[in-house]
Amino acid sequence: MAKDDDPIALRAEIARLRDELEQAHTAAEDAAEEAARTARDLERAERELARHTHTGREMEQAMAQLHDQLRHSAAVQLELQTDQARSLTVEEELNITLEEMQLVIAELEAANIALRDANARLERRVTERTTALATANAGLVEAQARLSLALRAAEAGIWDWNIATGHMMWSDEYWKLHGLMPGEVIPSRESWLATILPEDRVLVEATLQTCLERHVLDFTMEYRIRHPGTGVRWLAARGRFLFDETGQPRRMIGLSIDTTERKEALQVLDALNHELAARVEAEVAGREAAQRTMFETQKLEALGQLTGGVAHDFNNLMTVVISALHLLGREPLNERQQRLLRRIQQASAQGAELTRRLLAFGRGQDLRPVTIPLPTHMQELRELLVHSLRENIEIAVICPEETWPVRADRGALELALLNLAVNARDAMPQGGSLTLSATNRQVPAAEAKLLGVPTGDYVELRITDTGTGMPEGVRQHAFEPFFTTKEPGKGTGLGLAQVYGFARQSGGLARIETRPDEGTSVILLLPRATDPALTEASAAPGGEPVLEPVSVLVVEDNAAVAESVTDMLGGMGHKVARASGMEPALEILASEAPIDVVLTDILLPSGRSGADVVRAVRRYRPQVPVVLTTGYGGEAISDPDLIGLPVVWKPYEPKTLATMLARALRSHPAEIQAAVSNAPPWEAPVA
Ligand SMILES: Nc1ncnc2c1ncn2[C@@H]1O[C@H](COP(=O)(O)OP(=O)(O)OP(=O)(O)O)[C@@H](O)[C@H]1O
Ligand SMILES: [Mg+2]
Repeated sequence: MAKDDDPIALRAEIARLRDELEQAHTAAEDAAEEAARTARDLERAERELARHTHTGREMEQAMAQLHDQLRHSAAVQLELQTDQARSLTVEEELNITLEEMQLVIAELEAANIALRDANARLERRVTERTTALATANAGLVEAQARLSLALRAAEAGIWDWNIATGHMMWSDEYWKLHGLMPGEVIPSRESWLATILPEDRVLVEATLQTCLERHVLDFTMEYRIRHPGTGVRWLAARGRFLFDETGQPRRMIGLSIDTTERKEALQVLDALNHELAARVEAEVAGREAAQRTMFETQKLEALGQLTGGVAHDFNNLMTVVISALHLLGREPLNERQQRLLRRIQQASAQGAELTRRLLAFGRGQDLRPVTIPLPTHMQELRELLVHSLRENIEIAVICPEETWPVRADRGALELALLNLAVNARDAMPQGGSLTLSATNRQVPAAEAKLLGVPTGDYVELRITDTGTGMPEGVRQHAFEPFFTTKEPGKGTGLGLAQVYGFARQSGGLARIETRPDEGTSVILLLPRATDPALTEASAAPGGEPVLEPVSVLVVEDNAAVAESVTDMLGGMGHKVARASGMEPALEILASEAPIDVVLTDILLPSGRSGADVVRAVRRYRPQVPVVLTTGYGGEAISDPDLIGLPVVWKPYEPKTLATMLARALRSHPAEIQAAVSNAPPWEAPVA
């Protein structure tokens, strides 16, 4: 500062101060400018930092204060220069100037301090924010690394579709999922759809369209692609649509994973489930069917027993009626009496036929089981079928060479097949086909129990037609005697009854499989013939009646039948000795009474049978032939001691009886010898 008493020095001092003021002024302006720049930088930094923090307001306030201060001091300086400098004395002016200068300097100093503080704070904040930003960035980088590691581990591919521009991004993993090299195609909606199998593409497009139209946010889809290396693969895509405020879809982003293994495992599981369900269903159905079969078999057995019992008694009555009629015919009768007699004879013949058919169902028919080698017999059976069918029915017979022989009565088997063929014909009025097939079948214990047959080997004969089939209500009753759906006069309802009775009496089974409008199969299970030595016993009536009178021992418990047989034989000139059971028969056989031939019923009282009589005859009169008679003995006849012996079936005509006695006498003793040699160890009758 200059001395106060030297005006020149003062002026110089003032000039210098003016210079200084001006410099200060300029410095202030620079500072203001610098502050503004800093403020801008600060603002930028603030904007950068604003994402991580909400502070900064303080900084802004400090800067604003600084601005104000700087602006204020600049204005004061300008006023000083203009107004006051014009009117005051040099001294006053100087003083004022000095004061003002001091003020300006003080303000400048304050401003500088404030600026330094602001700068320091700014630097601190910037450092703080930079650190926070760096930490955040490091976290972000780590999260990103973790995400991409997880995506790679999960083999999940990311896609990001900018719907507005059509631009699409596929991650490395996404390319890999499709077996493509990055950049091999340009990712787009079209190139995405092109990776999908055509069969699935339509559905995918439709789903995509639906999502877009209905503004569905989430997109889930499973489809197949063809991977150039591994073939067809399943991909599951899951994504989300982003819509703008006007509802326009802007972006779709999501990820895809390969679900082939899971899908395949599911398919296997599904198949297993289906199989299991089918098996359970089949098992249940099988059990139900078995139960039904058992119930039906029991019902038919009961019905068979009832029918057989009635038919047996009826048969005895018919024997009496027929033999009595025969004797009556020998009496001198007038014409009217003869007419009446013929009518009664006709009716009784029909009655006898009906009884025979009922016995066939009631397991009591005249059956002589023999060994039938089916493959050699099939041609004959085929011809039998051809004759009973119309020309518009095709016939196929399938019987492999290895088919076992069956043990059954040949005539009854033919009759059964004939009945079945006629039924099939009636069920195919417009024609069709009939197939007869034979298959070997082993029936294990469990199944045998259900079916009601012994365990063992069987041949399954299946007669299948392509006819009308039967509704369940008909199928359930079809085997019952007299059940028919045919018009009166067209069917008696005894055809299937014969089939059933034949199969049961042969030790087998018959059942029906049918479906309305599809056709019917009748299945016959016949036992396998295990003894090929057993041959057919010829018992067809024929030959000459006995002419010479002989002595006949008649063993018959039914008094009426015994009476009529005695009459019949007496009428032929024979002598008759009668025994009502095993005990009196034994007495006669053991006595000296002359006996040329024995006629014995198979079923005798007290649990005895014709077989006991046969054994007694072999003991006491080995030269005497035996003729059996029965009305109900299909099973009894299977006794080994009875096999091969002639049988007269009740009711019989005198001529039949005469023929059988004659043949027995003629063939004896060779037949007896043969039978003896086949018989089990001889068993002494109980005295
Ligand atoms: N192959 C078949 N297809 C369709 N329905 C059948 C068949 N076989 C039998 N049926 C039905 O079973 C019923 C009984 O048959 P069954 O052979 O016992 O008597 P029918 O044929 O009516 O008379 P019959 O045989 O005594 O002349 C028949 O009336 C018919 O309704
Ligand atoms: Mg029939």
